[in-house]
Amino acid sequence: VDLAQANTLGLPCIAERLVRPGSTAALQAALALARAEDWPTLVLGGGSNLILPERLSGLVIRPAMDAWWQEEAEGDTVRVHVEAGVVWHDLVMALAARGLWGLENLALIPGHCGAAPIQNIGAYGVELGEALEAVHLVYLDDGREVVLGAEDCAFGYRDSIFKGSLAGRVVITRLVLRLSRRAAPRLAYGDLANRVGPAPTPLAVAEAVCAVRREKLPDPARLGNAGSFFKNPVVASEQAEALLREHPDMPWFPQPAGRVKLAAGWLIDRCGLKGWRHGHFGVHDRQALVLVHHGGGSATELLAFAERVAGAVEDRFGIVLEREPRLAGEGA
Ligand code: EPU
Repeated sequence: VDLAQANTLGLPCIAERLVRPGSTAALQAALALARAEDWPTLVLGGGSNLILPERLSGLVIRPAMDAWWQEEAEGDTVRVHVEAGVVWHDLVMALAARGLWGLENLALIPGHCGAAPIQNIGAYGVELGEALEAVHLVYLDDGREVVLGAEDCAFGYRDSIFKGSLAGRVVITRLVLRLSRRAAPRLAYGDLANRVGPAPTPLAVAEAVCAVRREKLPDPARLGNAGSFFKNPVVASEQAEALLREHPDMPWFPQPAGRVKLAAGWLIDRCGLKGWRHGHFGVHDRQALVLVHHGGGSATELLAFAERVAGAVEDRFGIVLEREPRLAGEGA
């Protein structure tokens, strides 16, 4: 099965087998078969945060259940159940159009709902973990179904238990989200406040977020990419202060425990790499944190390209950038 169209980087990948279960029962049957045949298993969602190798043996599972529904909770709160195969952006827009607050800042993030908790998707001052109540999952090793409360998901910046102790061990089948009818716009990031009126609807905020993203981030349908390729580094305040003495215009964001988050995009930009192209890959010309695939390249070449970018940042600023998209097989 050719997965080149199933990953937003557009990397060539031939998988031995692909199954698209439309229910938890079908998923459990596929897992039982994979165990019986001893096939390595990879779970694929929208393929927007994954680096695929040229060949994948075993079984690729792409959850295809795609129902979602809402129910009343206490007060102004609404609980939303959403299955793993729902396209994230479609859900965000549908909920915003219903006047529900909570996910509007996360509009236009590519991918499927089932993958959203893995990296705890976040943008414009909001992270998924804040709106999540629980995650339904199925274990690969015995097919049992478990509901994990958000407090047990170890959410952090671009991090969760699904990248840690549960990496490569579960399939996320459903999210339970909490949204609110009460207005709660979060507009502190950049010029979002200026882009919407004084009393915006969630839909107006979502549309403003879409506009900001379209200005900076390449559309994967036109130019292969996986969004930010590196995490923003979080460093000790002494290191940030030393860098700030040399580069007073460097963006920085205070974090808990006296640490400081730096902008990896700015660091790469300052190495003069914005728009740099080498072979089949490049640094995006409007947002240096995004690596782009011009076509014809492979995962191996991409990883070598990324190492050159990270190496330049390390040489210049002494900061080691950590890759954000997961490598298939690496606990994915
Ligand atoms: N900057 C530059 N040059 C660049 C890029 C950025 O100087 O080429 C500067 C900007 O001017 C700004 C700072 O760096 O002062 C931060 O840039 P930006 O606001 O564009 O956000 P980011 O930190 O680069 C993060 C997320 C994005 C998310 C945006 C908005 C990570 C790894 N990335 O990017 O998430 O959309 O904030 O909240 O945290 C993703 O994860 O795929 C992603 C796109």
